Amino acid sequence: MARRVNAGTAAWLLGGTIVTFTLATAALATPRRGPNAAITEGRHVFRYDTFGDEAFWSGVLRLHEPIAALTPVQALGAGLKVDLDALPAATVDALRAGEVNLNDPAVTLDLLARDAVVGVKAKVEDGALSAVGITCALCHSTVDDALAPGVGHRLDGWPNRDLNVGAIVGLSPNLQPVADLLGVDVPALRSVLDAWGPGKFDATVFLDGKGFRPDGRTAATLIPPAFGLAGVNLHTFTGWGQVTYWNAFVANLEMHGQGTFFDPRLDDATKFPIAARNGFGHVRPPEGKPDLVTPKLPALHAYQLSLAAPRPPEGSFDPAAAARGGALFAGAAKCASCHVPPIFTEPGWNLHTPAEIGIDDFQANRGPEGRYRTTPLRGLFAHAKGGYYHDGRFATLGDVVDHYDQHLDLHLTQAQRSDLVEYLKSL
Ligand code: HEC
Ligand code: HEC
Repeated sequence: MARRVNAGTAAWLLGGTIVTFTLATAALATPRRGPNAAITEGRHVFRYDTFGDEAFWSGVLRLHEPIAALTPVQALGAGLKVDLDALPAATVDALRAGEVNLNDPAVTLDLLARDAVVGVKAKVEDGALSAVGITCALCHSTVDDALAPGVGHRLDGWPNRDLNVGAIVGLSPNLQPVADLLGVDVPALRSVLDAWGPGKFDATVFLDGKGFRPDGRTAATLIPPAFGLAGVNLHTFTGWGQVTYWNAFVANLEMHGQGTFFDPRLDDATKFPIAARNGFGHVRPPEGKPDLVTPKLPALHAYQLSLAAPRPPEGSFDPAAAARGGALFAGAAKCASCHVPPIFTEPGWNLHTPAEIGIDDFQANRGPEGRYRTTPLRGLFAHAKGGYYHDGRFATLGDVVDHYDQHLDLHLTQAQRSDLVEYLKSL
């Protein structure tokens, strides 16, 4: 079934006949619509909706000022991605021919004005950048590099492991309010942001104020994929809640959209001192202002669940070895006792103690349950950069398998371990 939704008009291909009609209302809050319309709307929210978060990113952090001065080379260097499909043909040709000056901030401004910088929503007035906001796509989309590294077609749900969120936030000329929130000075906040590095972000530091682990390394986690999540119960590395819980959490508490959020677990002042002090479990839009998050949650949820994990490219793994590895995964290596195919997490309450998987409890204890969530494993190939486990502690899948071999006393041979890795690469 082919379908387009355009400015309130939908066209369905039914039995070879195109049926076009106008939706009575395109209001996001309209509850009774077909599931496909919700997915299309949800994609728009995921890619382009800031939930009014410009009030924070520009109003407070004034990030539009340094971003307006970035050259395209600098923007790409910070991991920002350019959506090829948002560019006019003439610009694409000029890029191909190497005729675009990638050291000119005016080019960045042009890209922003065309909505071509993935996840960054710009307001350009009189040829100047007057505000920026961010969308889900900033962290959870990348591009396929079709034209050049960092310039290509959107890949929604793929984590952007090049994106240096800490460096971008660090450009802000007004970090004082964030430092005040965390109860530290600006240099201390900068050291936290500088430690994140590419592909990482710390969603919990704004709840508990912990910028570093006891071993002195950053407390940030990798940006996970936002694909392959249908059928999975609890989400995030530590199982904060389901997809729609987390979408509301992020839109309000991380992106600083204008919405409503309720979670009295955040009133625990011992565990979440910053959240408890600031009432993060009881967020409402400012007096008299509309809720710009809640009406979008149903469509966003539908879109999230519609994002299937991508299939590994042909030739990227050895099929015979992967088949042998699959038998080990389900049998002697005990992997499927937790990573249950085909969702590769447990149907049900998919959490485990740190001891069960043989790692420290630092990040688990920052979450509500003191546990780690069994990661759904489809599409692993799409986020090899940055490593595996919540903090990227294992650089390769071979390292992950070696860890389980030791921890679970598996005594796998070298050949078996490599078969298991080929299987993981095939998922
Ligand atoms: C600044 C980067 C950033 C932005 C913007 C962002 N996220 Fe995330 N997202 C993360 C990080 C980091 C995590 C991991 C958090 C954790 O596990 O503690 C995460 C986790 C998730 C998860 C859980 C994935 C899983 O495997 O269970 C979902 C779903 C998700 N985000 C969806 C969204 C949506 C929808 C939006 C927009 C409303 C959004 N995110 C905006 C960085 C971001
Ligand atoms: C007791 C349950 C359990 C068993 C058994 C188990 N896992 Fe896991 N697995 C987890 C949990 C929980 C995580 C999340 C760890 C983290 O993010 O820190 C995880 C993470 C992973 C990851 C990292 C995924 C990513 O995106 O970072 C891989 C790969 C993996 N497991 C493969 C395996 C293999 C292979 C086996 C068998 C040798 C196995 N697991 C056995 C629970 C389990």
